[in-house]
Amino acid sequence: MPTPSPAKARSQRPGTKVNSLQDEIDRLTERFGTERKALIPILQEIKKRHHIISGYAMQCVADRLSISPAEVYGVVSFYSFLHEEYQGRIVIRLCRTISCDMAGKDAIARQLQNDLGIKFGETTDDGKFSLEWANCVGMCDRGPAILVNEQVFTHVTPEKVQEIIQACIKMYEKTPDLFKKNGHSHEHSK
Ligand code: FES
Repeated sequence: MPTPSPAKARSQRPGTKVNSLQDEIDRLTERFGTERKALIPILQEIKKRHHIISGYAMQCVADRLSISPAEVYGVVSFYSFLHEEYQGRIVIRLCRTISCDMAGKDAIARQLQNDLGIKFGETTDDGKFSLEWANCVGMCDRGPAILVNEQVFTHVTPEKVQEIIQACIKMYEKTPDLFKKNGHSHEHSK
């Protein structure tokens, strides 16, 4: 009789609360194996699905591959693609420094949060937008200012926020390359 996988064995145990992350890692080890060389592919999958590799996930992976958690942590820390924080393709940053603050950044912040359905520091579920604060971007006499990736928008009003977001979506769908994170800076006065 074949031995059930650890995931199946756990789920078959009566009264056992199935730990979905552990089961997921069990399935990944079924796919990639439990040798040391499976470590990076497994971590990449976890990062892809959860956008972050938690300490608990690292422990579970170490356990399944019979290596030390410190070794897993070392690998995650070494490879930036594994530990970089998840950001959407379009990162909108609102300047919160004094001139933009006095020019009405709070109303812009409310509008951005409302239109994107996320708070500052969050990313939309579809991974398209992240919303962050920025410090002075050098457009103090033209505030409030926002950065959309590397592009600066000045004199932003709440009414213009939706317009900017819609323009971003259209541009992104048409030319996703424009939203690479290391593009050039262009100012758009609204
Ligand atoms: S204070 Fe916002 S750009 Fe300088």
